[in-house]
Amino acid sequence: MEETQLYEGKAKKVFATVNPDEYRVYYKDDATAFDGAKRGTIINKGIINNKVSAFFFNLLGEQGIPHHFVKLLSDREMIVKTLDILKVEVVVRNVAAGSLAKRIGWEEGTKMPSPVLEYYYKNDDLHDPMINDYHIKAMGLATPEQMKQIETYGLKINEILSAYLQTKKIELIDFKLEFGVHKGQVILGDEISPDTCRLWDSETKQKLDKDRFRRDLGNVEDAYREILKRLTGEII
Ligand code: TMP
Ligand code: ASP
Repeated sequence: MEETQLYEGKAKKVFATVNPDEYRVYYKDDATAFDGAKRGTIINKGIINNKVSAFFFNLLGEQGIPHHFVKLLSDREMIVKTLDILKVEVVVRNVAAGSLAKRIGWEEGTKMPSPVLEYYYKNDDLHDPMINDYHIKAMGLATPEQMKQIETYGLKINEILSAYLQTKKIELIDFKLEFGVHKGQVILGDEISPDTCRLWDSETKQKLDKDRFRRDLGNVEDAYREILKRLTGEII
């Protein structure tokens, strides 16, 4: 039986499954940046992001963060729990880079004295504008209780991932998370991958993430492969 496709995003497709509590996610090689203005393909990105996300979800789950990942199904597919995704994108930052470096006028690479948490309204037509807790409450995007939970999870995830990545000689500069509600509980959804994180080599500060694509830095595929290799030892 062909499963119904529920959604196709820029990097993934989501399908219904025979289990009403689960979706199947397919990771594509398509890459976009700047709200789809820049498009391309990163060979084997789908495979790498599927595996890297599975790895990070398992790591976070072991340390008490509830998430949607259930199991890997194939190189490019995972089974996840159904989620009502909250239309709030959560960005956590340790080092000024990208839009933050621009907004506050700090040089990219400057360490933030304390982690910075930002929220964006998940709305492509509006180009995901930055919002705060007051907008989120007034717009009904999430309840104050859900946002408290998200803040706690976001900061804890930052501690877990930063500490782990340090052991692999990778510096976690910043990353984006999405949360959703499953059976009344807020849980972590979407993906955690070189598409959604800034990851720099701790020593050389070489960028090992999607900025290589966004900024035309070259060796994009090599960077994605390097992250998978450092995390799981797998060479593709
Ligand atoms: P920014 O500096 O462009 O605001 O990005 C912050 C982090 O969020 C960075 O790790 C990349 C990630 N991100 C996404 O995952 N999706 C997006 O659409 C954007 C703009 C950023
Ligand atoms: N999600 C953004 C887009 O498709 C890309 C990014 O990560 O910068 O435009």
